[in-house]
Amino acid sequence: MKFPRLCVAPMMGWTDRHCRYFHRLLTRYTWLYTEMVTTSTLLYGDAARHLAFDQSEHPVALQLGGSKLNELADCAKRGEAAGYDEINLNCGCPSARACSAARSAQR
Ligand SMILES: Cc1cc2nc3c(=O)[nH]c(=O)nc-3n(C[C@H](O)[C@H](O)[C@H](O)COP(=O)(O)O)c2cc1C
Repeated sequence: MKFPRLCVAPMMGWTDRHCRYFHRLLTRYTWLYTEMVTTSTLLYGDAARHLAFDQSEHPVALQLGGSKLNELADCAKRGEAAGYDEINLNCGCPSARACSAARSAQR
């Protein structure tokens, strides 16, 4: 597959696995992103549920939010092991909800 020209942006509250599955049904020619997943969610929550995706979603990127480098590195490895095609770090985005959830790089 050629590198897609179109990406569906990561959107908390929207781009969960069901939404991404639907987007993939619409087209093969887009890169999909998860909602932002915080490092705390993966390290202390139900990581299996938050990392799950359908194989049809490829290519799909995991977006991580967090501010501790060691935790981001750990979660990036978990994402790679889960089979994601890209690990995307949220270093600041226009969504106030995403920023407050991540306490991400801008703080
Ligand atoms: C409801 C909503 C949730 C969003 N959640 C995230 C997010 O989790 N991570 C992120 O990087 N950006 C998030 N964004 C920002 C979008 O990814 C995108 O950057 C923004 O909508 C601007 O896109 P545009 O320049 O194509 O209009 C969110 C935006 C919206 C509207």
